[in-house]
Amino acid sequence: MMRRVPGRWGGLLLGLCLSVAVPSGAVAAQIAPVASPAAGGVPLDALKQTFRRPAATPFPETNPYTREKAALGKALFFDPRLSRTGSVSCASCHNPSLGWSDGLPRAVGYGMKPLARRTPSVLNLAWGAAFQWDGRAPSLETQAVMPISAPDEMNMTMDLVAERLKAIAGYRPLFDAAFGPGAEIGSETVTAALATFQRTLVSGEAPFDRWVEGDDRAIGPEAVRGFQLFTGKARCSSCHAGWRFTDDSFHDIGLHTTDLGRGKFVPPAVVAMQHAFKTPSLRDLRLQGPYGHNGGLASLDAVLDHYARGGEKRPSLSYEMRALELSPAERADLVAFLKTLQAPPAPIELPLLP
Ligand code: HEC
Ligand code: HEC
Repeated sequence: MMRRVPGRWGGLLLGLCLSVAVPSGAVAAQIAPVASPAAGGVPLDALKQTFRRPAATPFPETNPYTREKAALGKALFFDPRLSRTGSVSCASCHNPSLGWSDGLPRAVGYGMKPLARRTPSVLNLAWGAAFQWDGRAPSLETQAVMPISAPDEMNMTMDLVAERLKAIAGYRPLFDAAFGPGAEIGSETVTAALATFQRTLVSGEAPFDRWVEGDDRAIGPEAVRGFQLFTGKARCSSCHAGWRFTDDSFHDIGLHTTDLGRGKFVPPAVVAMQHAFKTPSLRDLRLQGPYGHNGGLASLDAVLDHYARGGEKRPSLSYEMRALELSPAERADLVAFLKTLQAPPAPIELPLLP
C-alpha cells in the first residue's frame, strides 16, 4: 500500500516505480559453459560471469542487519523532520520514483540553494567502498551525518535531530525494537539505522542478469553487441566493472569542471586524482539523464559524444580516456545494452511516519 509522505516531493512519491530487492535475494545458478569468443579474445561466457550478481547483501559486523533497524532507518530516510525547516527528507533528493535521485543537474539544498554536485542514486551501496562523488565518507554511517549537518542541505546538528526525535513519542518503540529497550536516541543509532536501510536498497533482477544466468533470449542481439563493445573496443568496463558496473575507484574522465573531486583529499602531486570522481554504477540508470558529478551531461547522447571525443586534455585525464570512433549503429548497440541493466519497475511501500 502506498502512502503519502510529507515534504517537497510528497506528491511525486505516490507513483513510485523502482525495483528494490530485499537482502539475500538472488540465488546463484550454475555457471554456463564457455561458448563464443567476444571482442578482445576473452570468451563471452567467461566475461559474462565477471558481471554476475552476488547471492546476498553484505552488512558490516559492527552494524548487522535486523528487520527492525531497517524499518527505523526507512522511517528516518523519509522523515523531513530531520531537516531544520521540517520540509526536506533524504528522500526529497534521493527520491525512489526518480531512481533514488532527483532528476536535476545539481541538487537543490537549504533555501532552494543549488548545490555544486548532482544527487547520486543510493542503490547498491552495501557493496560500496567509499561514499560521495569524491569518496570522502568511509562508510554509510559516517556519510549520513554529512547531509544532515551540512548548512546548505538539511542544516541540522545531530544533537538537534536527537532532541526532535525524542519529542516524537512514536519513535521510542522503533528505537527500542531496533537497538534494545531504552536505547539512546542519538547520532550513533540514527546513522546506524539509516545505513542499514540504505544497504537494503538493491537493484532488482534485470534482463542482463537473466542473460548472465544463461537465458540467451533475455536480451536482444543489439544489446549483446553493445556488451561486446562495452567490454571490448569502447573499454567502458575498464572502469565500469563488476556486477554494479563500477570499480569503486576515482577517475578524471575530462568533464568540463573546476571541482577537484578526489583531488581535494590527496596531495597535488597525485596528479591522476585531480578532477577525479567515483565511477558511478550504471544499473538502473535514469535514461533521461542528466549525468555526471555536476549534471553537465544532459543525455545519453551527450555521454557518448563525450567518450567519443575522449574528454578535456589535462594532466589528470585518465589514461583510459582517448578518442573513440563509434558508428551510429554502435552507439545504438551501447544504449540497447545499458537498457538491459534496468530492472522492471516494482513498487516500494512508503513508511507510515511516527
Ligand atoms: C539537498 C539534497 C540532498 C539531501 C536532502 C540528501 N542528499 Fe544525499 N546526496 C546529495 C548529493 C548532492 C550528494 C553528492 C554529494 C557529494 O558528492 O559531495 C549525495 C550523496 C549521498 C550519498 C553517497 C552516494 C554515493 O554513491 O557515494 C549517500 C549514501 C547519501 N547521499 C545519503 C543521504 C541520506 C541518508 C540523506 C538523509 C540523511 C541524504 N543523503 C540527504 C543530495 C542530498
Ligand atoms: C576511465 C574510467 C572510465 C571509462 C573508461 C568510462 N567511464 Fe563512464 N564514468 C566514469 C566516471 C569516473 C564517471 C563520473 C565522472 C564525473 O562525473 O566526473 C562516469 C560516468 C558515466 C556515466 C554517467 C553516469 C551517471 O550516473 O552520471 C555513464 C552513462 C557512463 N559513464 C558510461 C560509460 C560508457 C558507455 C563508457 C564506454 C564508452 C564509459 N562510461 C567509460 C569512468 C569511466
